[in-house]
Amino acid sequence: SLKVVIIGGGSSYTPEIIEGFISRYESFPVSELSLVDIESGRGKLEIVGALARRMINKSGYPIKLSWTLNRKEALQNADFVTTQIRVGGLKAREKDEKIPLTHGVIGQETNGPGGIFKALRTIPVLLDISRDIHDICPGAWLINFTNPAGIVTEALLKYSLHKKVVGVCNIPINMKNSVAEMMNVEAKHVEIEFIGMNHFVFGRKVCVKGIDRTEEVLDKLIHNEVDYSPANIISLGWSKEFIQSINLLPNPYHQYYFQTEDVLAKDLKAFAENGTRAEIVKEVEKELFVKYQEEQLQEKPKELEKRGGAYYSDAACSLMNSIYNDKGDIQTVNILNQGAITGLPHDSVIEVNAVITKVGPKPITIGELPLSVRGIIQQMKAFEQLVIEAAISGEYLKAYQAMIMNPFVRNEKKAKIILDELLEAHKDYLPQF
Ligand code: G6P
Ligand code: MN
Repeated sequence: SLKVVIIGGGSSYTPEIIEGFISRYESFPVSELSLVDIESGRGKLEIVGALARRMINKSGYPIKLSWTLNRKEALQNADFVTTQIRVGGLKAREKDEKIPLTHGVIGQETNGPGGIFKALRTIPVLLDISRDIHDICPGAWLINFTNPAGIVTEALLKYSLHKKVVGVCNIPINMKNSVAEMMNVEAKHVEIEFIGMNHFVFGRKVCVKGIDRTEEVLDKLIHNEVDYSPANIISLGWSKEFIQSINLLPNPYHQYYFQTEDVLAKDLKAFAENGTRAEIVKEVEKELFVKYQEEQLQEKPKELEKRGGAYYSDAACSLMNSIYNDKGDIQTVNILNQGAITGLPHDSVIEVNAVITKVGPKPITIGELPLSVRGIIQQMKAFEQLVIEAAISGEYLKAYQAMIMNPFVRNEKKAKIILDELLEAHKDYLPQF
């Protein structure tokens, strides 16, 4: 038997992962699938559950599907547990994005001040879930996509007894797919050596069919011939000097760090016109859930591509597949550094290529970081550590440290104002403060 439990099963993303299981059934034969959600997500869970049932029925595969609000019961005999939750829902995300913006600071729900608060809300809940996993199904792998995925995964690996935890994101896959498209090859022929952290990862080397094509890819990037931005990020393009000097492939989130003022202007304009991304996502979700209720719908609808996380299930399902089959292939995951990158703490989580076997992912050694980005990667890692310390301790000054050290804030007075407003706005979801 092979049981997978999806925590946050009522998410609009769930049809993605269902499709991922169906398309991999021959090598990854899920026998039991349980979707778990909380009371406030009951309505969505039922709609998504019914759609998942139609998808599975259409596939003809004998996957036993259930959905429930009882997490502990669902976890019995689980082999893999995935987490895709949003503590406080899109309402909380809206505040994460809006409050900083009203003070002239980018909110950003994963790596900005918003992301700090997403982490503060999420880490206690994920620790709770991993405690249950440790008690009920200690052999299970926890595959975390809950954002900020790198920070949350590091918090779990530091503070939970359960150590079989891997974080995943769709950005590395998006980058690979776009390079493949641009080079006119299948994605399986593209290898990118990733260095850094989640939403702060760079590509150091790009090989196509085993041949180093980094220079060509960087050149196409300069000329805007490749754009691997997800739906939530509009690329502003990169200058020749920037790309040539760092000599690395940036990821779409790097615009927040290296084009901060332009992004702020873009965000403020979008905010004035359409509200925050959270508000747009609310609309997209509304449409999706109308669609999901159509009885004749038996597959993942195309409209799901309007979400930035589209294709995340490819990362999740291939990972589970390779662990289950002891494949030994290379995938990009969020795992403990353990010396793979010199100059980052051993116990910190990095986003890195790893060999995936049944004992889990083993990072491929990177060595020294290039001098051009070494400082900023170390700074971002220190920032992430501060966020985790704040989430665990509930200490105000730790949270302040994280806020002031976030690259979008860097203003001692604004840091306090934004921190205080967010603490107040989210107080129902911050038991540790
Ligand atoms: C990217 C990131 C995800 C993030 C998503 C947001 O794909 O990798 O971690 O959740 O964008 O998309 P959304 O549609 O929610 O704005
Ligand atoms: Mn991500």
